[in-house]
Parts: sequence; C-alpha cells; structure tokens
Amino acid sequence: MRKSKITADAQISILTVDDDPIITSTIKDYFKRSGYNVDIENNPVQAIERIRNGSYDILLLDFLMSPICGDQVVEEIRKFNTDLFIVLLTGHKSMAPPVKTIRQLDIQGYYEKDDRFDQLELLVESCVKSIKQLRTIRSYQEEMSRAYMQTIETLRFIVETRDHDTQGHSERVSLLGEAIAREMGLPSAQVERIRVAGLFHDIGKIGVPDAILLKNGPLTAEEYDQIKLHPAAGEKILSTYSPFKDTLPIIRSHHERIDGSGYPDGLAGDHIDIGAKIIAVADSFDAMVSNRTYRRGLSFETAMGELVKGMGRQFEPAIVEAFQRMIETMGREDFERVYCAHSNDTEK
Ligand SMILES: [Fe+2]
Ligand SMILES: [Fe+2]
Repeated sequence: MRKSKITADAQISILTVDDDPIITSTIKDYFKRSGYNVDIENNPVQAIERIRNGSYDILLLDFLMSPICGDQVVEEIRKFNTDLFIVLLTGHKSMAPPVKTIRQLDIQGYYEKDDRFDQLELLVESCVKSIKQLRTIRSYQEEMSRAYMQTIETLRFIVETRDHDTQGHSERVSLLGEAIAREMGLPSAQVERIRVAGLFHDIGKIGVPDAILLKNGPLTAEEYDQIKLHPAAGEKILSTYSPFKDTLPIIRSHHERIDGSGYPDGLAGDHIDIGAKIIAVADSFDAMVSNRTYRRGLSFETAMGELVKGMGRQFEPAIVEAFQRMIETMGREDFERVYCAHSNDTEK
C-alpha cells in the first residue's frame, strides 16, 4: 500500500459494482483497510437503484457486464445524479469505451484491472480531493445563500410593515398566482417561479419614500412616477442573486397591461411574460378587495366584475377565466377563507 496516502475519509462512501463477486470483495477489503465505507453490488441494474436511493460519493464500476454494460449504467445514473464520481474498471485497455464516451458520460477516470490496486487508489484519492473541495464550496454557498435570503426577507418585511395596509399582500398574491398557474396546467417549474415572484413582486417599493408610499389619498403625477419605478427597482435588487434569475421578468413586468398601456416598458400581449400576467391578475384582485386606511376594500363581486371588465385590456382573458374556474371549483366560501381571509381583517 502507498505510504503517502491522503487521510482516508470515513465520510466518503464507495459503491463497487462488478458481476464478479471476487473482484468486488477484493476491492471492498482493500479500500476498507484505508478507512472508506464500501458497499458491494454484483447486479448492474440493481446498482442504478442503489445509487438512486443511497448516498454514495464514488462509484467503482466494471465496464463489461451483463445484462447491461457499465456505460449504460452510467448513462442511466447521469439522468438523476451528476455529482457522483465514477471510475470505470476495464479488463483490457482495448475493451475500454472511447474517450469521447467517457467525456460525454462525465466519467472521472478508468482503471485497467490489475492484481495491485495502487493505481486505482490514486484515482480514488484524487476523486476524494475534488469531493472535499466541492463540499467546502457548497457549504460556503449555502452560508451565503442563507445570508442573502435573510437580507431579502428583511427587505420584504420592511416594505410590508412600513405600509400597514399591505400587510400579507405579497403572501396572498403568491398563493393566488400559484393557484391560477396550477389551474392553467402550467408545468411545475413555471408554477414555482410564479410563487416566488409573487412573494417578492413589490420588493422594489423599498426605494419609494414613505411620504408617497404611505400617502392618504390620491397621488400627484410626479408621485405616481416614483411608484412606477418599483418594478425595475425590484428586478435590480433580485438580479444580484442567481436563484432569482427566472423570476426577474415577472418582477419587472407585473404592472404591464396586455393592451400595452402598462409600465415600465409598455409591453403588450405575448410580449409580456405569462407569469407577470398571472401575478397582475392576482395582484389587482388582492389590492381591490383589501381595505385601505382611506377606503374600504371592494366586495368580491365588484372586484371580479373589474377583472372581467379588464379582460383584453389590462388582463389576459384566459387568466381571468382560469381564476374564475378555480373559484368555482373551490367554492366561493372556501376561496375567500383561503385567499382573502386576512385582506378583510385590516378594517379600521
Ligand atoms: Fe407592484
Ligand atoms: Fe402588489
């Protein structure tokens, strides 16, 4: 065994796969002595399931097996796991898959079977080094994400608590937007994007002065111009963090109208992101039924009537229709309990 071995790490787990049980048990014994956790699998089809359900870091995989060969095993695994480090074990060099395949399947190396395992151990050690680096990077990233999310949540909290009238607004818009998107049968990634955008759609209001945001009564044209800056400001705030990337078009365009008379870009029809059009409906509905310090919220019927009136001008007809369908399916009472419960609490 090599002397300058890096500290074998009990937290690294290896799965060794070969249809020859002698080979797998020899490999297991060898790497166990170096302190690795090693499991054995002699059936290549089973191996895929074990990777799917387990938490392995490294796969030592025989190439020539039946009923399926190593490269097919890797192809399956790569469909759901791109993190796993894979070393392919081949009987004869000439039988190894072409380099192109090795690259395509993101295989980290291959080892020509030998009685001695030091070469394989070297390969495993270099995998371990990369795994450890990746783990360090990920834990930094997680820490930074946590810090970033806390900051963004704080901003959202400031925006909403500063203006008592809009407390809970973004949560309700998020919930409603998500429900409408579901009703429309949008794919789940799209639904999630709309949910998140709903939560943060008004975050740019952090830049609007209190004197305007909290003003009791109608705004002057100049004041309204300041309010109109909030979608682009929100987009800018969230653009500093890549996980929000997909939500940016929604944040920016949630005040666009389908006839092109909205802001900030005056986009029309299909040029407006579908998520933004959904959030626009949810946003308007919630704003209409919510009480304000200076006015009571509109009744459910009046608000729905306004949405219908706005079809084709402010709102995408198919979205308002989906909204109506959703209320019908839920029943009006349940709908109000879930989506409007708090908006009528702010009375006084
Ligand atoms: Fe807004
Ligand atoms: Fe809003």
